[in-house]
Amino acid sequence: MFRDQSIGFIGGGNMAEALIRGLISASLFSAERVFAFDVLYSRLEYLKKEFAIHGSKDIAELARSSSIIVLAVKPQSISDVLDTLSGHLLHKPLILSIAAGVALGTLEKRLPEKTAIVRVMPNAPALVQQAASALSRGRAVSQDQMEMSLALFRAVGKAVEIDEKLMNAVTGLSGSGPAYVLLMIEALIDSGVLMGLPRQAAKELVVQTVAGTCRLLETSGKHPAELRDVVTSPGGTTIHGLQVLESYSTRAAFMECVEAATKRSEELGKHQDAK
Ligand SMILES: NC(=O)c1ccc[n+]([C@@H]2O[C@H](COP(=O)([O-])OP(=O)(O)OC[C@H]3O[C@@H](n4cnc5c(N)ncnc54)[C@H](OP(=O)(O)O)[C@@H]3O)[C@@H](O)[C@H]2O)c1
Repeated sequence: MFRDQSIGFIGGGNMAEALIRGLISASLFSAERVFAFDVLYSRLEYLKKEFAIHGSKDIAELARSSSIIVLAVKPQSISDVLDTLSGHLLHKPLILSIAAGVALGTLEKRLPEKTAIVRVMPNAPALVQQAASALSRGRAVSQDQMEMSLALFRAVGKAVEIDEKLMNAVTGLSGSGPAYVLLMIEALIDSGVLMGLPRQAAKELVVQTVAGTCRLLETSGKHPAELRDVVTSPGGTTIHGLQVLESYSTRAAFMECVEAATKRSEELGKHQDAK
């Protein structure tokens, strides 16, 4: 699929590093077909040394070398990048943007007409090749280009295509999701400590309980409620615990949490578009 393709990263931060690692270790790209440019010279030197990829001297050089360009700078830097990049796209590369909150419409307006652009929302577990990413296609993106984009993000985890109007919901759910899960994990560890378990043992038990439950859910293909029924015996310990969670409206709290994060993402997006 990626034969004859080369990929260039504008912005060589955490996300770019995670993607480069995933693409090279999944053998989707060899290092000589990967390019990067970062304003921070030391960052670029690090990436060149770590992955044996090419460092480009500027955005123009990177654009010329790449048939796929990933915009991996912070949203506040995207405007400057687009200004420079738009004059160097005659060869019609595919553009992937991971800048949070920057709409396809904004990117399409700022780049030449008919530029193929895919907007992506990955999340922090990309750093360990376990991202949950959602991708939305712009108007000029072909089916082949969309499949390539999904394959790229599947090298660092799972990836789904969604309509862009759901991007704020994705941001509130899987974008912010690692923080919700971490809060739950922290609370469970403290609960173990409250019951007298050593902290390290509590941490190991909780982390493995969460990881193992996710694996069970994935491999069984069952609904979470069905699996929960299996471990909830009549009058047993689990149902007594669950009764407390239900009395605190835990389910409603999660729904309100994701709703609040989605609304905040909408607000921040409006602010981005106004720039
Ligand atoms: N990290 C996450 O969990 C996550 C999740 C979802 C989406 N994202 C999105 O992914 C993007 C990258 O995030 P990140 O965590 O990788 O950020 P990061 O570590 O700060 O990386 C961005 C890199 O781009 C460099 N840069 C800034 N302006 C540039 C320019 N004009 N040309 C070239 N390089 C430039 C930055 O240098 P300086 O430090 O000198 O500015 C920095 O090294 C962001 O837009 C973010 O919204 C991140």
